Amino acid sequence: MPSTKSILLRLLFVMIAWLSIISVPFLAAQSVQLSVDLSKAGGKIDRNIFGQFAEHLGHGIYEGIWVGPDSKIPNTRGIRNDVVAALKAIRVPNVRWPGGCFADEYHWRNGVGSQRIVTLNPNWGGVSEPNSFGTHEFMDFLDQIGADAYISVNLGTGTPHEAADWLEYMTTAQPTTLAKERAANGHPAPYKVGYLGIGNESWDCGGNMTPDYYLSQLKIYSRFVRNFNPEQHEKQQPMLKIAVGPGGGEPRWTEWTEAIMQAYQHHTWSWDIDGLSMHSYTVGQHWPPSYTSVGFGETEYSQMLKFTLNMEDLINKHSAIMDKYDPQKKVALIIDEWGGWYAPLPGSNPGFLVQQNSLRDAVLAALNLNIFARHTDRVRGANIAQMINVLQAMIMTDKERMVLTPTYYVFKMYVPFQDATFVPVSFDAGTYTYGDVSLPRVDALAARGKDGKLWIEVTNVDPNQPVEVDVNLVGGTAKSAAGDTLTASKVDSVNTFDAPSTVVPKPVSAKAQGGKLTLKLEPKSVTVVAVE
Ligand code: AHR
Repeated sequence: MPSTKSILLRLLFVMIAWLSIISVPFLAAQSVQLSVDLSKAGGKIDRNIFGQFAEHLGHGIYEGIWVGPDSKIPNTRGIRNDVVAALKAIRVPNVRWPGGCFADEYHWRNGVGSQRIVTLNPNWGGVSEPNSFGTHEFMDFLDQIGADAYISVNLGTGTPHEAADWLEYMTTAQPTTLAKERAANGHPAPYKVGYLGIGNESWDCGGNMTPDYYLSQLKIYSRFVRNFNPEQHEKQQPMLKIAVGPGGGEPRWTEWTEAIMQAYQHHTWSWDIDGLSMHSYTVGQHWPPSYTSVGFGETEYSQMLKFTLNMEDLINKHSAIMDKYDPQKKVALIIDEWGGWYAPLPGSNPGFLVQQNSLRDAVLAALNLNIFARHTDRVRGANIAQMINVLQAMIMTDKERMVLTPTYYVFKMYVPFQDATFVPVSFDAGTYTYGDVSLPRVDALAARGKDGKLWIEVTNVDPNQPVEVDVNLVGGTAKSAAGDTLTASKVDSVNTFDAPSTVVPKPVSAKAQGGKLTLKLEPKSVTVVAVE
């Protein structure tokens, strides 16, 4: 005779089995048909859309990059080795420096030579600025990580003379007094400057200028702030001049874009621009940012992702204006400040813009990078804000400790897309709905990498449902796919100094069956695979 206990146990097993059967439909993966058209390869996904931004702000530079040569933290000429190694792995194409708002109060002479002037950083916490990280240290850092310089010159409180001198100091090979000073300060060879930002948010923290006032300044700086680097000239790698552009979609910014681009259409030999900057942060409903970067749920996850998708409209809006005046698309749209901007972490200096970086930020980054990549014809540069310890950072440090964020891993997984050839994809994204927010359930990007491989990225935005993606290659066949996927247990999962591997990529692979390649994507995940 079975005991009452064993009967109850059997009953329990039967109930569990029954529950698992009836719950299958709820856990069943959504299916997406993804068609990748290899016969219609498009433009180049400019590697500069993976650019970084490093401002003198909080611990973005000091402690984040610069610890000084006497520090116990392992460093090379004052620049921390762990950070350099991490950045080398994501192949940073360029770094925008020294700001941001800081740039319009930066005087380069304070940051060269053996006697550094201590100044203030009134924008960001009112702390003192030791100027120990200046031109030579920045260039050394770039050399160590293998990136190009994107220098933002001071148009707010500086002069064209000061900026012109800085460029002569950095780039001339002639034996001028400034070049000799550069050599005496340790660098006889001219530096390369890939990009020149002429002002920063000149409609706001950069001096509250009207479009007309800014234009008159832009023309002067564009004319006189020259790059003399002989190698750049020989190799036809001119320094690209970036004008201040819009900060949103409202009328004041569409007027700004109109004014700059209309002037560009009629520009003469004496001035020119190669790019128009655009800044667009994902902030939430209102300014100042109030969404928290940790301890949030699906409501805030879905809302922030909805806000971030406005990037598409913003690019379309400003591209349309640019097309009117520059149909040949000579002027690039450079989104040189973007990313999630949340409330400062409790206990941090609010002027230091410290926030955590979660799985939500990884999804947010992937969605934006895909938008940029789909606009290769116009968007030829972008700089996430900011590289270390500030806003949507790649890396966070605490004295000698360092942790890589979920956003870092997205940038790492996207390395094969740098300078890859865009391949169009088509799919019915489906819809993910939470409360009154509805979003495309999936997003995807494909490209032929410089390594010759076909790379596919798929983001599953849905935090609850897995997705099965059936890949159909038009003009090719797929045998298998392998790569990495990034996900975690919660939408607000983060990496911390004590638990640095909560959100890290895991290998994924798939084999084609019956000529069909099926990728299984976990909820709230970013996946990049190479197709064989
Ligand atoms: O990235 C922080 C600040 O945001 C920058 O200094 C400024 O350009 C923007 O408003």
